[in-house]
This record gives sequence, structure tokens and C-alpha cells, in this order.
Amino acid sequence: MKILSVTDIRKLIQIIGLQNFFKQLIGALEEDFGRWNEFTLTSRYGMFFPHGVIELMPCADRQFYTFKYVNGYPDNPLQGKLTVVALGLLSEVGSGYPLMLTEMTLLTAFRTAATGVLAAKYLARENAASLAIIGTGAQAEFQVLAFAATYPLESVRFFDTDPLAMAKFSHNMAAQKFRLMPCRSAAEAVCDADIAITATAAQKRQSLFEFEDIAPGAYIHAMGGDSPGKTELSAKLLNRVKLVVEYKPQSLVEGEVQQCSAELIHAELWELVCGKKPGRLDNQEITLFDSVGFALEDYSVLRVVYELAKHYHIGTESALIPEPDDPKNLFGVLQDFDRQ
Ligand SMILES: NC(=O)c1ccc[n+]([C@@H]2O[C@H](COP(=O)([O-])OP(=O)(O)OC[C@H]3O[C@@H](n4cnc5c(N)ncnc54)[C@H](O)[C@@H]3O)[C@@H](O)[C@H]2O)c1
Repeated sequence: MKILSVTDIRKLIQIIGLQNFFKQLIGALEEDFGRWNEFTLTSRYGMFFPHGVIELMPCADRQFYTFKYVNGYPDNPLQGKLTVVALGLLSEVGSGYPLMLTEMTLLTAFRTAATGVLAAKYLARENAASLAIIGTGAQAEFQVLAFAATYPLESVRFFDTDPLAMAKFSHNMAAQKFRLMPCRSAAEAVCDADIAITATAAQKRQSLFEFEDIAPGAYIHAMGGDSPGKTELSAKLLNRVKLVVEYKPQSLVEGEVQQCSAELIHAELWELVCGKKPGRLDNQEITLFDSVGFALEDYSVLRVVYELAKHYHIGTESALIPEPDDPKNLFGVLQDFDRQ
């Protein structure tokens, strides 16, 4: 069984390049959302604790079964820990044998950003050039660079309540071609944005900006609110935009739409990808992709990384699954060990 560490994922990105990885991932997501009916899909299973949530996210088609273990602990950075950490597993459905266990904290950041770009293909203006991001924590650079891989971004405005997080973001993005513009409020950041990303972490209901703050024709990727009682935008704003979610049963509990009724939802993302419902209709519409993170997205990144890791011989083979000569003689594995 293959094991991929953080170092292995870094190696993989060095080999194929960040932009190229985003492109492959967006392509795989489009392919998988496009064959929605081939998957066994379910809402994730979350256990709630005083400081956050721990979730299991399974998904399968006829070839692979995948699942992710992921947490969401908004106050973790106060103790020097990440808000979101994850591990992922990919198995072959034919035998039920696990094939790969991987770090998935980085892969979650990649796949969340790539999904936002896939939704943008249907919901953002083609000539989008200005981006705003609210919340410049762990996810921020991945979000911005995924969009930069697809759109010729000219400017990126950003705001975070933590000046150190803004300084970190500024430093990490300094070499990029777009103009970086730090802002003093969320409203200032989004005022003329073609693409606005909300990526804040707070275990409460927030309203980062209002409908009036947003320019006509904007696309909002709301990805920070992803749990019951944890939202970033007001119900008033949601009522005035074209709203798309990943998977209604999960989004209605965890997404921005937990504040509203199901009727407000225009479509699930797969319906746009499959051409069952229209995306953006004109240059004035304000569209919103209310992303909470769905297990199909983890499936896509896991299958892409599995193929790439095989191709480039990345990762370590480790005996996590016993391999007795006689499959009925599991006990024999202990005896063999005894002899060594
Ligand atoms: N939709 C998905 O698939 C998905 C995937 C990964 C993470 N997330 C969510 O995205 C959010 C961000 O994740 P992260 O790993 O970057 O967390 P993080 O803790 O590293 O960063 C969050 C940032 O938001 C800032 N912030 C909090 N409230 C703010 C406010 N009112 N205005 C401006 N900034 C504010 C914080 O100061 C912090 O810098 C989390 O809530 C996480 O659960 C969603």
C-alpha cells in the first residue's frame, strides 16, 4: 500500500508544477461532477466538540472508494495548530483493499480551490480580472493561485482581521504578476471584485459584507462557512443572488443556505456541469457558489494523486495490509514474524 507524506506531495508539485496540478485537478473535478449518477454519494458524518468538528467523508464509484478524515477547529491557530487537517484513503472497490493512504491537508486546500474555479467556469464572467479574498489564513494562497491559473488576474484585494495573516499572505504572493492591495475592511476589498472569495474561520454567524457592497456581475465563492452555526454571509444577501451548492442534503445543514429554504437554491454544481441548468445568464447577475466541501471533490483529488504518484514513483510502499501466503492463515503472519 502506498503512503504519501507531506514531503511526497511537495515533491509531486515540484515535478509537475502548481499551475499544471490545478489544471489537472479542475479537469478531473469536471469529469467527475459530469458523471454524478455513477457515484454513491452521501453527506459527511460529523461529530461536534466544544472547539470544532471532526468529519468522515466517503464517496465511491465502481472503481475506487475514498474517504477523508478532516477536522474544523477555528481556534486551533491560537495554539499554533492548523484550523483544518486531513488524511485521505483510496481503496479499490474490486477487493475492498486500500491502495493509498495520504496526507490530505494540502490536498484539501488544492481541491477546494479547484472546485471554486470549476464553479466559476459556469458562474463567473469570462473576463474576470479582479479578485478579492476575505480571510488570508491557510487556504488563501491556494484559492488565489487556482484562480490565477485560469483567469488573467490583474489585482487581488485582501482583508483579514489578523494583520499578521495579511502580512503572511502579502509575503507569499509578492512574486505574482497581479497587483496586491491590502484593505481595511471586507467591504473595501469586495467593492469592485469580479471574483470574491470568503475564506474566514469563526464558529459563529458572520456577515462579512452586504449585497450593496458587491459590484454587479460578481461571482462569490463562499467557502469558509461549512458547518452548522458557522456562516459568513447574511440571509438578506443570499436572497438576492443566483445560488449554487454542491449537494443539497449536506449544504442545507452546513452551508450559507442553512439560513434559508431549499427553494432558494438554483442548482447543484453537477447540474451546471451536465448542462441541466444554466449558469450565469448575463454580465449583471451576482452569483454565489456556497461551498462546504463535498466527498466527491476528495475522490477527484485522490484519484488524480494516486495516478501521478504511480507514474512518478512517489511515496513509500508500506505493509499496512497483511499478505499471508494462505489468506485463511492470518495467524501465520505472526508466526512468520516470530521466525525473523
Ligand atoms: N468549503 C470547503 O471545502 C473548505 C475546505 C477547507 C477549509 N474550509 C473552511 O475555510 C475556512 C478557512 O480555513 P483556513 O484553513 O484558511 O483557516 P485559518 O484559520 O487558517 O484562516 C482563517 C482566517 O480567517 C480570518 N478571519 C476570521 N474572521 C474574520 C473576519 N470576520 N474577517 C476577516 N477575516 C477573518 C482569521 O483571522 C484567519 O486568518 C475555515 O472555516 C474552514 O473550515 C472550507
